[in-house]
Amino acid sequence: MISARPTASGCMALFLVACCLPTTAAASDRTIINFDRDWRFHLGNIEKGQDADIDDTSWRQLDVPHDWSIEGPFDPHSPGGEGGGYLNGGIGWYRKTFPTPPEAKDRHVWIEFDGVYMDSDIWLNGKHLGRHPYGYTSFHYDLTDALKPQCQNILAVRINVAQYCSRWYSGAGIFRHVRLQVLNPVHLAHWGTYITTPTITPDAAEVKIATRVENQGAAAVEMLLWTEIIGPDGKVLRASVEPPKRVVAAGGETTFVQTVSVGQPKLWSPDSPHLYSATSHVTVAGETADFVTTNFGIRSIEFTKDRGMLINGRHLPINGVCNHHDLGCIGSAVHARGIQRQLEILKGMGCNAIRTSHNPPDPALLSLCDAMGFLVMDEAFDEWKSGKTPRGYGRFFDEWSERDLVSMLHRDRNHPCIVLWSIGNEINEQGEKNAYAMSKRLCDICQREDPTRPTVSACNEPGPADHSGFAKPLGVFGINYNIGAYRQFKGKYNLVASETSSALSTRDEYGLKVDKNGKVQIQRQFDHQVTSYDLAGPEWGNTAETGLLAMKHSPWVAGEFVWTGFDYLGEPTPYRWPSRSSYFGIVDLAGFPKDRYYFYRSVWRPELLVHLLPHWTWPGLEGKEIPVWAVTNCDSVELFLNGKSLGEKKLDRDKSLHVAWSVPYAVGTLRAVAKKDGKEVVRDEVRTAGKPKRLLLRPDREKFLADGEDLSFVEAYVVDDQGTVCPGASNLVHFHLSGPATIAGVDNGDPINHESFKADKHTVFHGKGLVVIHSGRTPGKIVLQAEADGLETAEASLETAEPPKAAR
Ligand code: GAL
Repeated sequence: MISARPTASGCMALFLVACCLPTTAAASDRTIINFDRDWRFHLGNIEKGQDADIDDTSWRQLDVPHDWSIEGPFDPHSPGGEGGGYLNGGIGWYRKTFPTPPEAKDRHVWIEFDGVYMDSDIWLNGKHLGRHPYGYTSFHYDLTDALKPQCQNILAVRINVAQYCSRWYSGAGIFRHVRLQVLNPVHLAHWGTYITTPTITPDAAEVKIATRVENQGAAAVEMLLWTEIIGPDGKVLRASVEPPKRVVAAGGETTFVQTVSVGQPKLWSPDSPHLYSATSHVTVAGETADFVTTNFGIRSIEFTKDRGMLINGRHLPINGVCNHHDLGCIGSAVHARGIQRQLEILKGMGCNAIRTSHNPPDPALLSLCDAMGFLVMDEAFDEWKSGKTPRGYGRFFDEWSERDLVSMLHRDRNHPCIVLWSIGNEINEQGEKNAYAMSKRLCDICQREDPTRPTVSACNEPGPADHSGFAKPLGVFGINYNIGAYRQFKGKYNLVASETSSALSTRDEYGLKVDKNGKVQIQRQFDHQVTSYDLAGPEWGNTAETGLLAMKHSPWVAGEFVWTGFDYLGEPTPYRWPSRSSYFGIVDLAGFPKDRYYFYRSVWRPELLVHLLPHWTWPGLEGKEIPVWAVTNCDSVELFLNGKSLGEKKLDRDKSLHVAWSVPYAVGTLRAVAKKDGKEVVRDEVRTAGKPKRLLLRPDREKFLADGEDLSFVEAYVVDDQGTVCPGASNLVHFHLSGPATIAGVDNGDPINHESFKADKHTVFHGKGLVVIHSGRTPGKIVLQAEADGLETAEASLETAEPPKAAR
């Protein structure tokens, strides 16, 4: 094998060879066909739903990604219980009738599913292609033999969401994208490219590309593989060639290993997420038989016992959150823009890492994390053989765990964002006799498939996990909660706080109540809500402030993943029905930050900040003392009520992240003025709202793409005549939409609300609500109107534009 090296002569030789190679794709390359559109869906079982003579014309027509569970209604008797958010699963059938694509003649056709929840059986023209139990791993089937070239084909997908199968809301359906890949007999294998960067210096990085090529043709073929490296600026940097040509037997495969040197590499890190890409070309008889482009990053990571994590040799604390995969009112149907919005909101808080609790994510999340600069702990399982739910993954673990783990590793291992492979969360077996053997088996699989990242498991019983040997094969010991274990295991393992806090709160709820002595008290939990003062958590957790201070005092721990960044459907701890979504989020289900957001932001971002809570609209509490907090990263805060100073308070940031006052309530303005080194640097203000006067619409993007997938998230507010949000408002708002778009969902972030997410109306919660607009495929102007009894209406003008031609 000859690899490209950064010597002058080597470069020249390469250049010459590369010039002789085809640089554009021939018509006969791989064809990728989006397969999301025009499915038929039937909720409920159908005997032999795969048969050709089933008449599906009355089935609902829809596009995937689709989640039938989110359509509701909420059902207090749902077998999924509170874990599933009281939304039902069951059996569902999808069918798609399609002609064989003309490109498929004499070629191979794969169908790729990014994820189907769950336990799918798939048939093409009555032929069973396979069963895939795990809802979160991607998979593909070869359709070639079952396709009918001259007539319509029927693809049938049966899905069985047999609840109770998940501790959180899973969704149900073909909830991720589907595509066809049409390939020449000689092609790059599925997930066949694996790129690593074994050595990195400021002068050069060695990029190693292992590429698996298959020959599914009937005869041996002589082939050549060459790889182009494209820099972060889009320019081709270098090409690597693999002479001499290789001959691969019919039905055989070969792996090419090439090494390319990249000069003055631009390193990937959360602060500078530079991305390179490699285009692998397979040529046969001078023609491109196949090519695939793979993004990668050049970066090094190291976990240490004393300094946490180093990226490119520099210490970087993991300021991360755990998230489940649902997107609130859109459910689990994946929308890249929905994920991107979540990441933007989290970035605004200084978050730099995501734990994909507790399953492999949609691939879009990883591409976004690569591009936006988030570290990722990619997690395989929530349970092994000993299940946590009666119909969960435990049923499939023995037969499927290796296949599912390898699926995650092969699909995801080129993403620079991933720094940890997690083999599981709070695994029941962690303290048992066979713990070592079970953990070792999965760690070995991870290291076999990708030795460039450590394996972790998130342990809620760190003592037993240490004692049983469960922790021994791990590269990093993940500690869930158990703050004392940070010190206990200091120096013995590389440590990460894989799950922290689990603090509880409801956005804009404070629980202020006058007691029998006439004093205002904070009720931590009341009426199925939880106060937004950072005071509440389950017995295994702690407040945001306690967790942040614990991390500050444990610099040997690589950092933390807070439970959770966003509220999610299901697991409404500490309640059950009528609560149906979580209280753990730093941000509510609709995307509105809770007060806890500012605790994290004050530590995780460098900008100086002061944030006041609660809001200042308390009719009936005039003259009563209200607890007022100012969250800050400054030295001191002075508080003013209607211009009059209520005193300045200093902060010892080793002990506290906020200062507090008791303020006799009076209508008006409460202002916090924060100082650093004696100088005023930043302020915050809360104002008493007057009567609700009008509606206000605030789209996150006025212009978006007419690609049938893009979204605009429009926040709706009830405000007074000064534009102050009215926290007491709970008006029902009707949305009217005109133009080439539809409403994807409505919500207000209230965990006990049972209105439909799939409607054109919704109440606001403490004056705030959300409507998600889904683009159609025709560009055009869109007008959204909001209307509520007794309020002035509001209007927002949006516009969708022609999407750019997709590159591959
Ligand atoms: C953890 C668990 C999470 C979630 C959380 C709630 O123990 O890993 O999935 O249930 O508790 O506090």
